[in-house]
Amino acid sequence: MFELSEDHKAIQESIRDFARNEILPGAPKRDKTKEFPTELVAAMGEMGLMGMFIPEQYGGADMDILSYVVALEEICYADAAVGVIMSVQNSLCQWPILAFGTEEQKLKYLPSLASGEKIGCYALTEPEAGSDAGAQKTKAVKNDDGSFTLNGTKMWITNGPQADVTVTYANLDPASLHKGVCAFILESSMDGYSVGKVEEKMGISASGTSELVYSNMNVPGENLLHKEREGFKVAMATLDGGRIGIAAQALGIAQRALDLSVQYANERKTFGKTISRHQAIQWKIADMRTRIEAARLLTWRAAAMKDAGQRASAECSMAKLYASEVANFCAYEAVQIFGGYGYSKEYEVERLYRDARITTLYEGTSEIQRLVIAKDTLR
Ligand code: CAA
Repeated sequence: MFELSEDHKAIQESIRDFARNEILPGAPKRDKTKEFPTELVAAMGEMGLMGMFIPEQYGGADMDILSYVVALEEICYADAAVGVIMSVQNSLCQWPILAFGTEEQKLKYLPSLASGEKIGCYALTEPEAGSDAGAQKTKAVKNDDGSFTLNGTKMWITNGPQADVTVTYANLDPASLHKGVCAFILESSMDGYSVGKVEEKMGISASGTSELVYSNMNVPGENLLHKEREGFKVAMATLDGGRIGIAAQALGIAQRALDLSVQYANERKTFGKTISRHQAIQWKIADMRTRIEAARLLTWRAAAMKDAGQRASAECSMAKLYASEVANFCAYEAVQIFGGYGYSKEYEVERLYRDARITTLYEGTSEIQRLVIAKDTLR
């Protein structure tokens, strides 16, 4: 698949217009104030962007995953912080409910998430369970009435400060590592649930990131997602899709870095000509474009495989690994092309450089992606 269909191109164009007119202008201010973009999220909800691949019967836009990554790239081109809110809402919170939830759970939780009325998050990471996600210490105890009591702390949770609904993980038996993990759907109004430390981050400042603390939290049995002790598979399958979302985010950042570099290189003059006429700059532009196009093909292929119902763990990891490293490369080169100006907060490439940095870290570091790819290859 080398070209988007006419339908996908139409989605790309309409989201591009929205992102460049409504999101891009406010990005520098949001980066400074670190304010959560409540109004934009509401507008994105109305456009169907907060529940893109959720079927109509649960209030979603009923599109495919390829449409989602195409749209997400456009949103992240304008502001990667807004993009990650959309990505977590779609891939990490709603997808596992859609894929593993009961009919009652889907009807109860998806409509208000898909409309953007409620914010969702995914809480897997803990202080001692980041890359080693199976080492979940958050404890779940099953009570006689079928409910569960949860105790523990999650950290680095995107949308954590704002979330109304959380897909989380807790261990019935920490000694048996991933084999004791259960998935749950939590509501922020449940007793014992609280938002802990809110992080101050290097980039994607307008998205909230925090700890979530569960203190003797009673969770009804009907909020167990999928089967007891099968939660780790929910977590891993969810991350497959999440990783394509981060690949799309990285693509948006990389494409913006390239476009700004081209514009600047055609204006800025040194040694009597625009810097775009120096071979040193031409090679940078050529490398940026080539890598972006390769990353985009990997991302679209992974999305198309998910749409075809195929397991695509390695392909999702390849897309995320490559696109995130391309975003960092392109942001670095953009700052280099802008020279001293690129180091100034007055120029957008400075923000892109900071925003790009997270993409090789969250939803699995580059090292974890290589591990997933190697395991699949050597199997
Ligand atoms: N789909 C379904 N099942 C899967 C799976 C997948 N993609 N990957 C693994 N599994 C299953 C395996 O088949 C295995 O099942 P059995 O027990 O039946 O054999 C089980 O899960 C355990 O698999 P592994 O032996 O491969 O597990 P592991 O403990 O070695 O861990 C890992 C593998 C890839 C390192 C994993 O721990 C991992 O992905 N770590 C990184 C976690 C991560 O990305 N965290 C980011 C959190 S989200 C975030 O960033 C915050 C945010 O808000 C954006």
